[in-house]
Amino acid sequence: MNEVLNAIYRRASVRSFKPEQVPDDIVKELLNAGFHAANGVNMQALRFVVVQDKEKIAELDGAAKKIYLEDAEETGESNPFLLSAYKKDDSIFHYAPTVIFILATPDAVTPTEDASLAAGNILLAAHSLGYGTCIIGLADPLESYDEFWEENKVPEDYIYLTAIVVGKPAGDIVPHPRSEVKVLSWIR
Ligand SMILES: Cc1cc2nc3c(=O)[nH]c(=O)nc-3n(C[C@H](O)[C@H](O)[C@H](O)COP(=O)(O)O)c2cc1C
Repeated sequence: MNEVLNAIYRRASVRSFKPEQVPDDIVKELLNAGFHAANGVNMQALRFVVVQDKEKIAELDGAAKKIYLEDAEETGESNPFLLSAYKKDDSIFHYAPTVIFILATPDAVTPTEDASLAAGNILLAAHSLGYGTCIIGLADPLESYDEFWEENKVPEDYIYLTAIVVGKPAGDIVPHPRSEVKVLSWIR
């Protein structure tokens, strides 16, 4: 099997990491791989924020939980799965040493698609370099953690897209099986 397919089929989300930090050259390689993904009209609108400070990651974990839980209480609207996830003591970032946030400039034509493709590249590139990753949708409430973005030079009108944790996996990477591909029609 070629290297690309091997990474596609052998990657799995990692939720347990060794404490060692991800070196700068690896982080740069991952961001570069993300930025090289296909993107709407080649606007190259994605921007990244990298957090490698343990205390800051713990603060962001607390902030995401607080924002979601306060909002749920205020509006009376919540999702039972999310509610229980945000009430757990465990970090939503799985105690990974590095978190990469993906944002886009306001002129992005297809920000969601761009970020998804970039995230896919980052996951595969990291796997190929011996690093584990997991996309953290539970970080989404941080979209409204204005103090953090302001403190890190992110303009107010930038679009929050997603977060990815990165680190050396603490155990073996075991790909999660998929069912058979379901093709609805194949017209020849
Ligand atoms: C949009 C998105 C959000 C996700 N959010 C989380 C999350 O908050 N926490 C987590 O542990 N995994 C999260 N995941 C990882 C998925 O649970 C994982 O990709 C899925 O179970 C398939 O497993 P695999 O990645 O090992 O193939 C997310 C994945 C995607 C695509």
